[in-house]
Amino acid sequence: MSFPLTEEQHMVQLMVREFARKEIEPVAARNDVESRFPTAIIDKMGGLGLMGMMVPAEYGGGGTTAVSYVLALQEIAYACAATAVTMSVNNLVCGPLLEYGTEEQKEKYLIPLASGETLGSFAITEPEAGSDAASVSTRAVLKGNKYIINGSKVFITNGGHAGTFIVIARLGDKPRHRGMSAFIVERGTPGFEIGPEEKKMGVRASSTVSLVFDDCAVPAENMLGGEGEGFKIAMTALDSGRIGISSQAIGIARAAFDEAIKYGSMRKQFGRALVRNQAIQWMIADAARDIEAAHLLALSAAMAKDRGESFTRQASISKLFSSEAAVRICYDALQIHGGYGYTKDFKVERLYRDARVTTIYEGTSEVQRIVIANNALK
Ligand code: CAA
Repeated sequence: MSFPLTEEQHMVQLMVREFARKEIEPVAARNDVESRFPTAIIDKMGGLGLMGMMVPAEYGGGGTTAVSYVLALQEIAYACAATAVTMSVNNLVCGPLLEYGTEEQKEKYLIPLASGETLGSFAITEPEAGSDAASVSTRAVLKGNKYIINGSKVFITNGGHAGTFIVIARLGDKPRHRGMSAFIVERGTPGFEIGPEEKKMGVRASSTVSLVFDDCAVPAENMLGGEGEGFKIAMTALDSGRIGISSQAIGIARAAFDEAIKYGSMRKQFGRALVRNQAIQWMIADAARDIEAAHLLALSAAMAKDRGESFTRQASISKLFSSEAAVRICYDALQIHGGYGYTKDFKVERLYRDARVTTIYEGTSEVQRIVIANNALK
């Protein structure tokens, strides 16, 4: 597409494309079938500066723009959506540490996360607090120079392999979002248990676990931001996270589009290739339209972030559009494959499963519509 990229952005796109096609794509299907977390690949991605892309080099990151991040994540997701969400969540965790962390916290936690030495995880969701994020009930109480955390979290991406967790918990008596604070919790802290991996429909090579905090004592200096800032920290982190999931969805959609054209050009029925039929061409045209629109929306959100403007609305519009488009495009791509698409012999079967979660995590499509409508009605 003809959107003008800077030389740096173009270089990032090409470098990540080459890496993803060479190192990730060949093992993606096996990792999906075996639910195998790609530790060695994630390590290499750390070395390439992909795990903390927008973090300045002085804090161990890639020092790139959000636009470069969108381009890179699409390339990773094209090869493997599970690897892409792992990367996206690690980048999400870096954001609040960079924005709200003290120099000591940046030194101790951000540098290892951004350089890919440690994996990060972000814990807000609870059994009774999903879309209604302000209703978390995990509680922190200050005792001496430690916060004692009790409660549980679910659907925590990266949790099975992460070393550093940002945990959102209730502190004090203020209701809903005003009573929430953020804490940095290290893996291995006594009273912090990590549950078994969820058996998921898609993104099966990514890690998703529950967490239990049972009198887990965290040093007072591990509060991130100020008391009562937890919800704001979570929402600003999710704004960036939604650009990431949008990019992941676009990468999946692009892969499905290419698979559909490849198969539809090769497969002959009624004496001609499937793509010679108008019914199939309309699916291809709609997919091309949606991929291009989704890409421009993601770039628009990323450019607003790069300019230092508020991008909440654009991130939600982008995530809503890209994720729903990815689901539609994968549906049509599988339809074009017919019965073969329903077997594990064809990549489109994995793409179809992987796309589905993008309308759910980091805010469902319904939550994105709440954000967009609230913005319009302000
Ligand atoms: N940035 C900064 N501040 C924000 C904000 C944002 N994007 N959104 C809201 N706020 C502030 C508001 O200004 C308000 O502050 P004041 O009271 O000071 O004015 C406060 O937060 C409360 O805002 P709302 O009244 O809008 O809050 P709400 O309770 O109605 O909730 C919501 C809004 C958008 C539905 C929110 O709860 C939400 O985003 N829910 C979805 C949660 C989510 O995305 N979870 C994903 C979990 S992580 C994950 O999935 C990662 C993964 O594994 C891949």
